[in-house]
Amino acid sequence: MLEVKNLTKSFGGLRAVDDVSFTIDEGSLTAIIGPNGAGKTTLFNLIAGALPPTGGSVKFMGKILPPSPHKAAKRGIARTFQNVKLFHEMTLLENVMCAWNSGPFLLDSILPKRYRETERLRMKHACYLLEDMGLGADRDTRAGDLPFGKQRLAEIARAMALKPSVLLLDEPAAGLNRTEGASLAKIIRHIVSSGVTVLLVEHDMQLVMNLAERVIVLESGALIADGPPSVVSRDPRVIQAYLGVA
Ligand SMILES: Nc1ncnc2c1ncn2[C@@H]1O[C@H](COP(=O)(O)OP(=O)(O)OP(=O)(O)O)[C@@H](O)[C@H]1O
Ligand SMILES: [Mg+2]
Repeated sequence: MLEVKNLTKSFGGLRAVDDVSFTIDEGSLTAIIGPNGAGKTTLFNLIAGALPPTGGSVKFMGKILPPSPHKAAKRGIARTFQNVKLFHEMTLLENVMCAWNSGPFLLDSILPKRYRETERLRMKHACYLLEDMGLGADRDTRAGDLPFGKQRLAEIARAMALKPSVLLLDEPAAGLNRTEGASLAKIIRHIVSSGVTVLLVEHDMQLVMNLAERVIVLESGALIADGPPSVVSRDPRVIQAYLGVA
């Protein structure tokens, strides 16, 4: 479904992503791990079209993805952000509805009935997504007034509103407590079982080992290991990258 080939991103003299290649099967859940600064978020930015690559390519369903976040979203790649990016002044429901870019267009002003019907269906779907995340009671609360754990889940609901085929989650468990972490794991499992392919960047190793069927490890931009969690966690290069000792 996704083919990352010789992907490279340089910032000046720094190779944040360095000649990385892998393929992702449809319906799979793959974790991407690595020490701070390994290039995980940069890799997501490249896949989501937020950054143009310096070299290499990302193919989605056999076609090269252009470096445009809008085009990536339209083709079914949704994401969340390491630092939650909700509109704090807007309610949770409004935040989720933003995914549809639902401002009135010319056709909508000519056909107001059609516009109202589309909005009604979208609102219904947004409410359903929030319910699904356990946020039904919070839908009319300003995003900025909600605890951090709920903000993280709302961002996942907004990404799911795109009905994505690929979902990129950048450290969704960061800042969550144990209970929130457990419900996040359930939500991610539910998303994967609904057929969405998930790439998960995460430092919470318990979550990674519980959820992922495959783990890709980056260090200083390069891919140093790729395999099942039980194998990768015993790989001397991975242990060295994390602990500095073999
Ligand atoms: N826009 C940018 N301009 C310059 N350097 C950047 C930029 N974005 C990232 N970097 C650098 O690229 C490297 C990889 O950063 P990145 O954020 O991808 O790492 P990460 O693996 O996500 O780290 P963390 O676990 O801390 O989130 C770092 O050295 C970072 O400082
Ligand atoms: Mg990061």
